[in-house]
Amino acid sequence: MRKAVRSGIRRIWPGVTDMEKLTLEEARRLNATMVQEEHLIIHALNVCYAMGAMARHFQEDEEHWMAVGMLHDYDYEKYPDEHLQHTKEPLLAKGVPEADVRAILSHGYGICTDVRPETLMEKSLFTVDEMTGIIQACARMRPNGISDLEVKSFMKKFKDKRFAAKCSRDTILQGCEMLGMEPGEVAAICIEGMRPHAKELGIAGTEN
Ligand SMILES: [Fe+2]
Ligand SMILES: [Fe+2]
Repeated sequence: MRKAVRSGIRRIWPGVTDMEKLTLEEARRLNATMVQEEHLIIHALNVCYAMGAMARHFQEDEEHWMAVGMLHDYDYEKYPDEHLQHTKEPLLAKGVPEADVRAILSHGYGICTDVRPETLMEKSLFTVDEMTGIIQACARMRPNGISDLEVKSFMKKFKDKRFAAKCSRDTILQGCEMLGMEPGEVAAICIEGMRPHAKELGIAGTEN
């Protein structure tokens, strides 16, 4: 699980070997040590699958992006009022690479951190975090869940700010601008990533 990087062993914290990259298995394991509430586990999975689809879109490392998505709200359940203030040191101490910790911190940019999303992975995480919440809410209302959810229906709800009001449209628009993409484009990718996991995500539909 924790491998020596290149020829030498990279140590950030005494006695801790930095893992080469965060695997999905390790992200699931670490997340489970901190997150037990069902809706937060589902949220982590939503973001995980959406990130996998974003990675595919950009021809990047799918599993790696999924792992970062899985772990992005590591401290939220235990510290909702101090979100992302209990993430950096504990994750570095567990050997999570600095770049992955940075990516996680950047999803709170302008909200609870000043770490600006710079990479495609970071910009994607910043955007899909809120967007998947609206997609989930849309899918939950439909008899067939996410299976026949189209971008057109998503956009209607996206524009209705009273719908899933907690999901910040401004954050999504800011993220889309960083990515140079339209919200509908990102939504299509997220829906595609989440759809195969409908049952696990509780969005297989009211009749399924
Ligand atoms: Fe968060
Ligand atoms: Fe989140």
